[in-house]
Amino acid sequence: MNVPLFKIYHDDFDVDLINTEINSGSNWAVGPKVEEFEEKIANYMGCEYTAVLNSGTSALHANLIANGIGKNDEIIVPSFTFIATANAPLFVGAKPVFADIEKDTFGLDPVSVEENITENTKAIIPIHYGGCPCKIKELKEIAEDNDLALIEDAAESFGADIDSKMTGTFGDSGILSFCQNKVITTGEGGALITDSKELYEKIILIRSHGRLESEDYFNSAGYFDYISLGYNWRMSNITAALGLAQIEKVDKIINMRIEKSKYLTKRINEETDEIETFTPPKGYKHVYQLYSVLANFRDDLIDYLSESGISSKIYFDPVHQSNFYTEKLKYDCKLPVTEEVAKKTLTLPMFPSITTEEIDYIASTIGKFYNRR
Ligand SMILES: Cc1ncc(COP(=O)(O)O)c(C=O)c1O
Repeated sequence: MNVPLFKIYHDDFDVDLINTEINSGSNWAVGPKVEEFEEKIANYMGCEYTAVLNSGTSALHANLIANGIGKNDEIIVPSFTFIATANAPLFVGAKPVFADIEKDTFGLDPVSVEENITENTKAIIPIHYGGCPCKIKELKEIAEDNDLALIEDAAESFGADIDSKMTGTFGDSGILSFCQNKVITTGEGGALITDSKELYEKIILIRSHGRLESEDYFNSAGYFDYISLGYNWRMSNITAALGLAQIEKVDKIINMRIEKSKYLTKRINEETDEIETFTPPKGYKHVYQLYSVLANFRDDLIDYLSESGISSKIYFDPVHQSNFYTEKLKYDCKLPVTEEVAKKTLTLPMFPSITTEEIDYIASTIGKFYNRR
């Protein structure tokens, strides 16, 4: 049996909505689906404004520009994340400062964040690791007490919440990713969510050349003025159509992920004590974008799973230990919890359509591996 790490959940509705846009023969770049998708996201999240972009990384970049972050500013980030979170401050000439994580959620540790605040700190960018909310309420208090922007990197946690408040909506703004392994996907894509009209309006300019766009640029003879520096970080109308089809089934997708993850946890715990499965804190809704565990003899297990046709992956090797940060940027910091967790963390296959047989096979293969030792 071969079990991939993830499979995209799609159906005929995805194809139908894209086909309609393609067959229209117009509006492949900009068009009405973009705003429709933005409205759906805002309604789902419970926020005032959404701007979609071509990736989560662009959303982070645009967000820092719009927040006026620049030279001499320090931004507190986790190291246990995808590198884009840490790189975003560098994009605008600011310095990423790594804080440690805590073990309940693998998210930023509020104590470590406080220890890293200096007079140059301007913002905190927490992530919600693999779809599990981090200690965002505590981080919000710290941000408010110290007058810092709280920018949530909710790339992995679409639909995750704490007591029904969505991740991404606790901070001043949040970013989402729709890359192919995320909870819902448009292949590539991202979004910024916020209640701030001012921030939203800046993002709209930054994502499209700094151009004032009261109507469709491509289909208008009118004059368009350019009032700030901007990029082409737009999401295409075709992509947004796919997003509309995906968001329609998001609750189904999340429920399937949660149900399958619960079963995998039960099965792993039946097979071995050598793996620590993940239990989110009470009231925290984990959407299992990643199904990660802490595994003894992790690297040998990866090989054994691979020989048995099961894909697994290390999410994440700490950013502060990457070649770019140690060799080029000369970072030399110690993050004990991050380093300990990263040595044992292993992400196993998880996707909405994973079958009971596949889950049983993963668990029994893991059981076999530890029994042999
Ligand atoms: C935590 C985190 N932040 C940011 C990103 C970047 O998103 P994208 O791949 O859409 O640029 C990702 C995606 O992998 C992510 O996992």
